[in-house]
Amino acid sequence: MAVEPVVYGASERPPRGDYSRARDDYTCAQNWSAYTQADHDTYRRLYERQSALLSGLASQAFIDALPSLGVRDRIPRFDEINERLRPATGWEIVAVPGLIPELPFFELLASRRFPVTDWIRKPEEFDYVVEPDVFHDLFGHVPLLFNPVFADYVQRYGAGGIKAHHLGAGELLSRLYWYTIEFGLIREAQGLRAYGAGILSSSGELRHSVTSPRAQRIALDLVRCMRTRYKIDDYQATYFVIDSFQQLFDVTAPDFTPIYAAVRSLGELSADASLASDSSITLG
Ligand code: PHE
Ligand code: FE
Repeated sequence: MAVEPVVYGASERPPRGDYSRARDDYTCAQNWSAYTQADHDTYRRLYERQSALLSGLASQAFIDALPSLGVRDRIPRFDEINERLRPATGWEIVAVPGLIPELPFFELLASRRFPVTDWIRKPEEFDYVVEPDVFHDLFGHVPLLFNPVFADYVQRYGAGGIKAHHLGAGELLSRLYWYTIEFGLIREAQGLRAYGAGILSSSGELRHSVTSPRAQRIALDLVRCMRTRYKIDDYQATYFVIDSFQQLFDVTAPDFTPIYAAVRSLGELSADASLASDSSITLG
């Protein structure tokens, strides 16, 4: 079974989930009754720790939307979330056994179905888990799917992904996902804040991304972003910063076919590259 190469990069390990449960589109039933009390406790403790860190670091849109997840003292039933999410933005979440290949991933997003891994990390992985689990996927990704502009961006990204896949540009476009939906920063009235799911579900990277003088922060530029490789096993060396969710929508509206050609001819950059042309954002 191919490992999902879109979001977390090609992996040498086989993915961890049980893919025999999956339908042809990689979705499966959320195996809710299989969660143990220890699993629910892990979720509750992660939720408690992470929600206490958000103030002053997380995007206000995220903080406002977080209660839409509902219960915080156990792993939610995806159906309960969908009862609120469908009327809010027309999105629903669907269970998957874990990482999935790029084309079915893009197809789910294009049809406003967000794949959520249903298993949860073991207690010994409390601070760091190698693959995304149900806590990362729910806490990190689902609140902003209640935001109409952001929700539309993710759907359009999925449609753009199907096109990119057929152009052989899936890996280039996946960098845009990585540096926006996973690790994006936004300038709000109160200052720099995180809106990317990989940051919001991480206890250490939340503060690092917003406040560390060692991280590089650049105003989002499509070509610069899609040229830039990323780190899957360490804090990002570079974060791309937007001023509004509408900006994501606007910069991705054009036909990407010539943009992929430009990205290819300019060549890749390392995760920590710094260019004279970068529009750097300084702290304070
Ligand atoms: N507009 C892009 C194209 O034509 C598709 C896209 C949309 C990519 C939204 C990312 C986000 O290829
Ligand atoms: Fe994610």
